Amino acid sequence: MNRKSIILAGGSSIRLYPVTKVVSKQMLPIYDKPMVYYALSTLMSDRHSRQSHHFHPVRHHALRATAGRRKRLVAQPTIRVATQSRWSGSGLYHRQRLCGRRHSGLVLGGNIFYGKDLRALLEKFMIRNRGATVFSYHLEDSVRYGVVALDAQGHDTSLEEEPASPKSHYAVTGLYFDDNQVVDTAAELKPSARGELELTDLNRIYLARVQLNGEIMGKAYAWLNSGTHESLIEASNFIQTIEHRQGLKVSCPEEIAYRKGFINAQQLEKMAQPIGKNRYGQYLQRLLKEGIQP
Ligand code: G1P
Repeated sequence: MNRKSIILAGGSSIRLYPVTKVVSKQMLPIYDKPMVYYALSTLMSDRHSRQSHHFHPVRHHALRATAGRRKRLVAQPTIRVATQSRWSGSGLYHRQRLCGRRHSGLVLGGNIFYGKDLRALLEKFMIRNRGATVFSYHLEDSVRYGVVALDAQGHDTSLEEEPASPKSHYAVTGLYFDDNQVVDTAAELKPSARGELELTDLNRIYLARVQLNGEIMGKAYAWLNSGTHESLIEASNFIQTIEHRQGLKVSCPEEIAYRKGFINAQQLEKMAQPIGKNRYGQYLQRLLKEGIQP
């Protein structure tokens, strides 16, 4: 199946003002890398996916530079610049434009996923032919997100966007895999009270058709959403703690590309060499010298 995936990396993120007045949210550092590397790493699990990156029109230069460097890291890269990318629902518009009527994936650029066998979990859903897949995650406070209610068997029974009184602790993460009906289904959407086409409304249509695959991402995984100043620091601390303890990097696109055979040792060396004096570059060189850890 030729699934095409999109990273939505263009929000103005008013919640992060004034920082995001001068730099796009997805370029902000999460410990030692730009936020967008984490979303990119998540999608790199799918060997066959083509990846597109959507950038804020004003601030896209830095993003383009970053994505450009990543170009060699994905199997069949497609890097495009969107002229408008203001809200999560605009991912629907870009999917129509860039993916057409085919199976597609979408990850919101501020989402960070971490956990054992995450890739195997995602690959299982990436190859699904029918319906839409959403991942939900238990949160102490789910009020700022899309929220699913589950029945006794763990099946999704309702979906609400930012409900005042959430029916459960299960928030919908910013990772979506849809079948090739998505473009036609999205055409049925009407703007919500906040004037947006909502991903949650799209998934509600799939739910009504009994075509929504709701998957709980259990507590063996971490899902972080770096949408506020506090959560930026929390996410950075989380990554720093793991990387410092293990001496291994989390969501390093160069490493994933090397592991998956998208690039060879010579290409990795070429990426590492100019940054050999910095710890990121030294890490890449170590991969070449010591081999990759399981
Ligand atoms: C979007 C979705 C929401 C989801 C969240 C996850 O919210 O609308 O349902 O829970 O992403 O990151 P937004 O980031 O647009 O506030």
